[in-house]
Amino acid sequence: TESVPEDVVTLVREARQVVALSGAGMSAESGVPTFREVQRGLWERFSAEELATPDAFEADPALVWTWYRWRQALIAAVEPNPGHRALAAWQRHLADQGGWLAAVTQNVDDLHERAGTDVLAHLHGSITTHRCADCQEPVEVPDPAYDGFTVPPEPEQPPRCPACQEGLARPDVVWFSEMLPAEAFDAATAAIRASDLVIVVGTSGIVQPAASLPLLGLERGVPLIEINPEETGLTEVMDFAIRGRSGEVLPRLLAAAGIPLDRR
Ligand code: APR
Ligand code: ZN
Repeated sequence: TESVPEDVVTLVREARQVVALSGAGMSAESGVPTFREVQRGLWERFSAEELATPDAFEADPALVWTWYRWRQALIAAVEPNPGHRALAAWQRHLADQGGWLAAVTQNVDDLHERAGTDVLAHLHGSITTHRCADCQEPVEVPDPAYDGFTVPPEPEQPPRCPACQEGLARPDVVWFSEMLPAEAFDAATAAIRASDLVIVVGTSGIVQPAASLPLLGLERGVPLIEINPEETGLTEVMDFAIRGRSGEVLPRLLAAAGIPLDRR
């Protein structure tokens, strides 16, 4: 995993219209646990799949709310990693050349933005904003008052919606079984249809419909590159799979392609 294949370096150097599809692995080196890894502390009895659903919120709103509040506090406490920063640098570089990089993420964190990337689509929403679970009006919720590295001992109830005074506040994320925001999905689809390179970073490639987006590139013969320490549900359709961490591989790849990493 130390070296990056020369063919990949060439693709990166020559690409002008790039879609980067990221998943939880992108933020792993910042200290945000991925979805399919075993959780610790208060949450060790639950998998993410058991908490990130409308049914779970209905059954135990405090449990699900508190889990998201903790993740929100954790995300606020960590920093973007070199992978996020490399992607931001690549986006700036391509914009300077008259091209573009469309960042399409399944992550609900804001680490791409905090690294300076303009994100085209948050396919699974955002953990930093909230809305009413009933009337869907935006709800302002103050940031968690605790340090994200310590798990809060007591579950707290979600606040009630000030607009309808009935529904509970929930994070603006997409739960399993829910529809993706159409605007975000359409923007991602259009970007892939206009791209000349698709790079898939840190996603297990099993959650639909996000995992099917690279197939739109495949249909058009756009080169597909994966960066992930492990094999994924998308590996078999990839032209190149680089086995490694995004925070290490992305900076190395861009440096090899002559893309400046440090300019802000
Ligand atoms: N660099 C790159 N990839 C990594 C790293 C790293 N440092 N560490 C782990 N990974 C990879 C894992 O090998 C795995 O393939 O990141 C992937 C994380 O997979 P998931 O936890 O399944 O995350 P993701 O693919 O983003 O999940 C999709 O599912 O739970 C829902 O809505 C949630 O957006 C999430 C979606
Ligand atoms: Zn409401």
